This record gives sequence, structure tokens and C-alpha cells, in this order.
Amino acid sequence: MSRVALVTGGSRGIGAAISIALKAAGHKVAATYAGNDEAAAKFTAETGIKTYKWNVADYDESASGIARVEADLGPIDIVVANAGITRDAPFHKMTRDQWQQVIDTNLTGVFNTVHPVWPGMRERKFGRVVVISSINGQKGQFAQVNYAATKAGDLGIVKSLAQEGARAGITANAICPGYIATDMVMAVPEKVRESIIAQIPAGRLGEPEEIARCVVFLASDDAGFINGSTISANGAQFFV
Ligand code: CAA
Repeated sequence: MSRVALVTGGSRGIGAAISIALKAAGHKVAATYAGNDEAAAKFTAETGIKTYKWNVADYDESASGIARVEADLGPIDIVVANAGITRDAPFHKMTRDQWQQVIDTNLTGVFNTVHPVWPGMRERKFGRVVVISSINGQKGQFAQVNYAATKAGDLGIVKSLAQEGARAGITANAICPGYIATDMVMAVPEKVRESIIAQIPAGRLGEPEEIARCVVFLASDDAGFINGSTISANGAQFFV
């Protein structure tokens, strides 16, 4: 069945692969981005997927952006909270600003993205919420106290939403990608990245499409009994 899907951070990296895969599955997709107009325009030209610019850390911007998407495409049945940033630093060097930026974008951003669409999902008795967490929310990571806190927080969000949404036909699940070949991982110093790859039994980084395929399944009508779960996709780097 064709539905309307919203993907935050949906024009680059894992989010772009998710937007493309949801479109290929027959859905009408809106992809948000925060700042990179050029990348967003290129993405729309290449894929035909409409992009919308707003800051997920801002509730009012999110709510009005979501209202624009719904006016353009119809009620949102699938929401993928994917937008995220890193501000890595060892804890003794981490600034309050680095902490707050990551909390505001990665954690409060999930609230700001899901909260405005939740009442409509409850009314229509259908919804699919997928939150892109991280292996580092499961295992922690040197220099990522801020990021790991938000990604662990995602798991609490979906487990709670799952219980609240289940009777209303809404599912909420998390995917924990391991290290995926995106700009975010490529920004890690090369030597560190090489040592990370050495710890992945698969011997390689994951591909964004490998995460996107998980999202398409969780967003499908068929996945209605999978609710509150966490799918790890990390090349056997870490087991919960
Ligand atoms: N484990 C243990 N020790 C580590 C370490 C690790 N993983 N990484 C660095 N260290 C050590 C260094 O060897 C160094 O030790 P010495 O002082 O004894 O030499 C010390 O910690 C770091 O000191 P620096 O002063 O060099 O640190 P810095 O302030 O320059 O910060 C850094 C460097 C930010 C930590 C940088 O190394 C870095 O970016 N590391 C990668 C962090 C990481 O893995 N981030 C994940 C990004 S990808 C992602 O987030 C996507 C996802 O969801 C998976």
C-alpha cells in the first residue's frame, strides 16, 4: 500500500538511501535537511523526492514543516527519525555546547519529529515510527558520551511509544546501524577508522542501502506485530 513517509536528514547518507528505498517501495516521500541546500537540490533533481528545510532541534519549525508536508502529500503514516550529528570529544574536553547540540538534534529532534504526527496516527489507527539509533547507543563509544546518550535514549523512546501506540495500530522500532560508509564515518580520522574496521567481523563498513532495507520492512503493513524492538545491523561487531 502506498503511504506518505517523512524522513528527517533524508537527503544525505543513510537518510538518502532510506528516502530512495521508501519511494521504490511505492510510498510518497518527503525528505528533510538542515542546511546543505546544494546537496538537497541535487538529491531532488536525481530522485524526484521533494526536500524540505527545517531544523529538527526546533519544535515549532518541525511542526510547521510537517504541516507543509501534509498539505503537499497528505497525512504522514510513516516517520523515520534519522537526522543526527556528532560532536565527538573525550569527556574531559567535551564542552557544554557539544553536549547540548547533540542532545537537541539527536534526542529532542526525535520528540519534535514524532510528536506532531502522533495524534494523526492515533486517529487513523495506523502508524510506523522508525528511529535510527546506533551501535554506539548500545555499547558506548570513546569520545561520544553525548552521542551515545542520545542513541541509547532512542531505544527508551521506541520501547515507550510501542506500548502507547500498539492499540492504535502504531509501531515504533529502532535500528542500530554499525559503522556505515557515510560522510559521518568518513569524518573520523583515517587511522581511527582503520582500527574500527579491524573490529568489524564482516571486514567492511556497511552500506546505507543495508539500513534502508530494514526501514522499508519495518514501515510495511506486514511488520505490524514487530513493535518496540531494536534491529542491530553492524556486521557482527556487537551483540546485545
Ligand atoms: N579507545 C581508547 N583510547 C582512545 C580511543 C579509543 N577508541 N581513541 C582515542 N584514544 C586515545 C588516543 O590514543 C589518545 O591517547 P594518548 O593521549 O595516550 O595518546 C587519546 O585517547 C585522545 O587524545 P587526543 O588529545 O588525541 O584527542 P582529541 O581531543 O584530539 O580527540 C577524537 C580525538 C575526537 C577522539 C578522535 O580520535 C575521534 O574522532 N575518534 C573517533 C570517535 C568515534 O569513533 N566516533 C564515531 C563516529 S561515527 C558515528 O558516530 C556513526 C555511528 O553511529 C556508528
